[in-house]
Amino acid sequence: MAFTFTVNGRDHLVDPPGETRLLDMLRGLGYTGVKEGCSSGECGACTVLLDGEPVCSCLIFAHQARAREVTTIEGVAGDERLHPIQQAFIDVGAVQCGFCTPGVILSSLALLRCNPDPSEKDVREALSGNLCRCTGYVKIVEAVLEAAKRLKKGGGR
Ligand code: FES
Ligand code: FES
Repeated sequence: MAFTFTVNGRDHLVDPPGETRLLDMLRGLGYTGVKEGCSSGECGACTVLLDGEPVCSCLIFAHQARAREVTTIEGVAGDERLHPIQQAFIDVGAVQCGFCTPGVILSSLALLRCNPDPSEKDVREALSGNLCRCTGYVKIVEAVLEAAKRLKKGGGR
């Protein structure tokens, strides 16, 4: 049955087959920043925010997004510049192959919205569902802590 939902502030009318995953619907709509890794809820590459909460879009049916708001990595930056979290990832050198990065940044965004002053432990916990094969996490954690500092100084959203 057709329904509407919102992605990054834009309404979409969709009518996906019953067992379509949110991951596939989003990618089919062009939100290819949503990555598919394990397809089983283990890697976090497919993370999006559903009404502000990080979820694995490979584990959610498309129809579960009915009348809800999804945020993908495409909706994180402003028109003119990157979000402070994205900028911190670049400045600190927390991106290698980049496959995990959209999911990591969305989990980080959800963390910093509810905990603007996280400890290293808080960051590691918040990102525990996002696997990265490249970085060893040190730079990722550093980038999130740096982003928190910048956001506190008034550098973001
Ligand atoms: S692809 Fe969804 S958690 Fe790995
Ligand atoms: S940067 Fe390659 S998987 Fe994280």
